[in-house]
Amino acid sequence: FKVDMDPSAADKGTYPFYMLKEIDEQPAVMRKLVQEYFDSDDQPQISEKLLQAMAESDHIYIIGAGTSYHAGLIGARMFEKLCGVPTTVHISSEFAYEQPLLSQKPFFLFLSQSGETADSREVLVHVNEHNWPSLTITNVDKSTLSREATFTLLLYAGPEIAVASTKAYTAQIAVEAILAKALGEYLSRDAAQNFDLKHQLGTIANGMQSITDSKEDIEALASRYLSKPRNAFYIGRGIDWSVSLEAALKLKEISYVQAEGFASGELKHGTIALIENQTPVIAIITQDRTAGLTRSNLEETQSRGAAVLTIVSRHLAHEDDNIIIPDVDELLTPLLSVVPAQLLAYYTSLGKGLDVDKPRNLAKSVTVQ
Ligand code: G6P
Repeated sequence: FKVDMDPSAADKGTYPFYMLKEIDEQPAVMRKLVQEYFDSDDQPQISEKLLQAMAESDHIYIIGAGTSYHAGLIGARMFEKLCGVPTTVHISSEFAYEQPLLSQKPFFLFLSQSGETADSREVLVHVNEHNWPSLTITNVDKSTLSREATFTLLLYAGPEIAVASTKAYTAQIAVEAILAKALGEYLSRDAAQNFDLKHQLGTIANGMQSITDSKEDIEALASRYLSKPRNAFYIGRGIDWSVSLEAALKLKEISYVQAEGFASGELKHGTIALIENQTPVIAIITQDRTAGLTRSNLEETQSRGAAVLTIVSRHLAHEDDNIIIPDVDELLTPLLSVVPAQLLAYYTSLGKGLDVDKPRNLAKSVTVQ
């Protein structure tokens, strides 16, 4: 698969829906990002001016909506762990009208596939009024958010047509990782210097491929577990929780199953009351420190009748796990764990005979506030 940047590449070819094509394009997008952002010495190529502006700031504010907000939740961990810069993530429609108390030297990072989301633009207008430095990470060169921010980085994901975002989410996470590595190195942080990102992205491209190659297994799981229930839960801790939010959004937006993502430790404080016989609960388990805890939370739902499913990193897998994903650096597991969730949503929607690419009530680019 090659990612063709030409708009005429927005052709479904033999695919029944764009969403499946876009899920399948993810390995190629990862390889394209390696090509675009790394030099022959495996160093990330990010302009010094951008790194300087970020290095001078004392807090990174990531702003986004929908799936882009979810990609920000992953990126924030990277900026904190690899660069040591406090980072918070904000929903643009909230931040536009009620800002937290800001730090002395804020830096704003906008995530937007389209570069046109009105809520995010509203925040950028405010940021520019204060002359604060900003960066837009977007798939659309010369889009409004790209033109109006101080800096731009592109996603190189090729046109994304399906309303439910897939390859833009993984591209956003990869570009955040590249930027965090570059900034961390600029700040002489060991964690960034030791992060073998280029190699990891290659492993991830192959891993994504192996997951998309096992589509039929995932289709069978979707039909068995998700075709009938009206609601479903994704659970996880830490970075797996952040992916749970995106996984649940995919399922609800295209299959109309009422799906929620929960921090698995919070279940017992209320949500577990919703578990009935055969309610699907899907756990994402990729982190050493929390794997055992998430598993016991999953068992608590199972003993109350839940139909449980697991998406697990290979080195943490048990015999009865359902979907096993290849091992990669713990900060990058979302790039793999989200792919089975995208496919589960796709096949649930397809199985119900819905219009996967154009779910009811939704638009690809939302230009009203
Ligand atoms: C719409 C789309 C979502 C997207 C969100 C933010 O709601 O349906 O898929 O995540 O807008 O869009 P953006 O272009 O800013 O990433």
